[in-house]
Amino acid sequence: MSDEQLVLSTTDGHVTTLTLNRPKALNALSPELIDTLIAALEQCEADAQIRAVVLTGGPRAFAAGADIKAMAGASPMGMLTSRAIERWARIAAFRKPLIAAVSGFALGGGCELAMMCDMIVASETAQFGQPEINLGIIPGAGGTQRLTRAIGPYRAMELVLTGATISAQEAYQFGLINRLAPVESFLQEAQRLAAQVAEKAPLAAQLAKEAVRAAAETTLREGMAIELRNFYLLFDTEDQKEGMRAFIEKRPPVFEGR
Ligand code: CAA
Repeated sequence: MSDEQLVLSTTDGHVTTLTLNRPKALNALSPELIDTLIAALEQCEADAQIRAVVLTGGPRAFAAGADIKAMAGASPMGMLTSRAIERWARIAAFRKPLIAAVSGFALGGGCELAMMCDMIVASETAQFGQPEINLGIIPGAGGTQRLTRAIGPYRAMELVLTGATISAQEAYQFGLINRLAPVESFLQEAQRLAAQVAEKAPLAAQLAKEAVRAAAETTLREGMAIELRNFYLLFDTEDQKEGMRAFIEKRPPVFEGR
C-alpha cells in the first residue's frame, strides 16, 4: 500500500466529510481504498458527535469504478474467499445518514457506491453509468438492483446493456439524484444538506433511515412492522421527550442523541 492517505476526513460541527483520495487513478476503488473507507465510516458510526456524513471524491471523479488493474487477474475462488465485493455491504449498512457529493465520473462501482448513500448531490459535470459490460462483466456491487429501483427497469436495462453514461441533468430527471449544483458549490450544497439532517434527533434519523431503506428490501407488511417498531422505540428516548416538550413550550428543541 502507498503512503498517500486514501481517505481524507474533516469534521465541521456534527458533520464529517470523507474524501476519496486516489485522484491519479480517478479514485478507482481498490480493496485498500474500500477497507480504508469502511474503517473511516466505522469511526464515524462510533462517534456520538457525528450525526451525518458526506462522502465525496474530487472534481474530476467521484470514483471511476472498482480497480480494474487489481481485478484483471482475479479468479472466482480468490474473489469469493477474500469477499472482494461482499465487504462493500458494510458501506450500505452504515447506520447514520450518508450523503454522496458527486462530481465527474461515478461509473461502475463508483455509481454503485453513490447509490449506497442515502441521498446524492451532484455537480453539473457528474456522469453516472454502469460500463462493466465493456469489460466483459456485469455490475457486482448493486448496480443491477439499486439502479433499477432508482430509475426504473427500462432505463436501468439500457445503461447496463449498453454501458452508456448519463449526465447529471438526466440523472436528476430520472430521480437518481436529489440536487444539482455547480461544480464550485456541489460539496457545500451536500454539506448544507447534511447539516440540516444533523440538526434533527440523531436516533430518530438512524431509525428513519432503517425504515425508509426497508421499503426497497421487504414486503409492505414487513416494512410497516419495521416502521412501527422504530416509531414505538423512539418513545424510549430523551429526544422524543425534548422534541414534544419543545413543541408544547413553543421553543426550538435541543437534541442530544439520547
Ligand atoms: N480502475 C483502475 N484504474 C482506473 C480506473 C478503474 N476503474 N478508471 C480509471 N483508471 C486509471 C486509468 O487507468 C489511468 O491510469 P494511468 O494514468 O496509470 O494510465 C487514470 O485512471 C486516468 O484514466 P484515463 O486516462 O482513462 O482518463 P480518461 O479521462 O481518458 O477516461 C474514464 C476516464 C472514461 C473514466 C476511463 O478511465 C474509464 O473508462 N475508466 C473505467 C470505467 C469503468 O469501466 N468502470 C467500471 C469498473 S468495473 C466495476 O466497477 C465492477 C463493479 O461493479 C464492482
